[in-house]
Amino acid sequence: MTDTRPTLYLSRLLPDPVMAIVRERFQLVHEPVDALPAPSALREGLCQANAAIVTLGDRIDAETIHAATRLKILANYAVGYNNIDLAAAQQRGLIVTNTPDVLTNATADLTWALLLATARRVVEGDALVRSGRWTGWSPTQLLGADVSGKTLGIIGMGRIGQAVAQRAVGFHMVVRYHTSHPPATSTLPCEWEFRSLRDLLGEADIVTIHVPLSPATHHLIGARELALMRPTAFLINTARGPIVDEGALVDALKTGIIAGAGLDVYEQEPVVHPALAQLKQVVLLPHLGSATVHARVQMGLVCLENIQAVLDGRPAPNHIH
Ligand code: DGY
Repeated sequence: MTDTRPTLYLSRLLPDPVMAIVRERFQLVHEPVDALPAPSALREGLCQANAAIVTLGDRIDAETIHAATRLKILANYAVGYNNIDLAAAQQRGLIVTNTPDVLTNATADLTWALLLATARRVVEGDALVRSGRWTGWSPTQLLGADVSGKTLGIIGMGRIGQAVAQRAVGFHMVVRYHTSHPPATSTLPCEWEFRSLRDLLGEADIVTIHVPLSPATHHLIGARELALMRPTAFLINTARGPIVDEGALVDALKTGIIAGAGLDVYEQEPVVHPALAQLKQVVLLPHLGSATVHARVQMGLVCLENIQAVLDGRPAPNHIH
């Protein structure tokens, strides 16, 4: 019997509950594995499919978009979509979707894990205990910085930025934020005050980044911005690596311009600036922002919901315009 199910390209293996639905509803262009496809394999897969789910490491350029003539929808398994040439997709009428909302809490929680780990030297403490060289409690051992009662500077006050701010309430922190488009009348709690980027950088004890990567935010934080921060301040980035000039960050950390950094994302992922790994005032995570079982399953379900809508001729709920 002919298989009439639509063809789907998956650039990576997704969590089991998502794969179970995929296998029931679609013909897979090929069996996915848990590794980034080569650009040629990615393009070939996209050219054979009616719908595709791709991940943030897949660069989807204009040439690929125009070559994939059978493709109706590209569902990005992420909220950020800087990996896709959106202008080319719009020009060719290809629907691109993302996965907002379902990863907000996971990413905000991870931001806090990184923030606390950086300020309180959690990773150094773990390494000391594991090394067998810990000789016991000491009044001067691994002293970190207070978080409670300090000022949190949030760059980008979208869903994730706001979720990070909500968590700061429990730490009695002063919240200051910067967005490129401050609302005329803000719906945010009035105690969260807007600041220019310059003022926010000078005022915050911890600066955390939650803007999408775009030409406007590429190297938003460079040498000049780092120099505005306090020497006791920490920088946290769980958004996208290229928002921070990694070379300038290394210099700022080495010369004590800022006190430390917690990074989940990098300029050239998965390559990490070699100097960062040498600095003990830095905590490095492998892009874990949305990495909870729940969030990653929901992200897959959101992709499938968007694909189903487009294949049925309905508007995609998360169509990026
Ligand atoms: C996203 O959704 O953009 C995240 O970076 C994935 O973890």
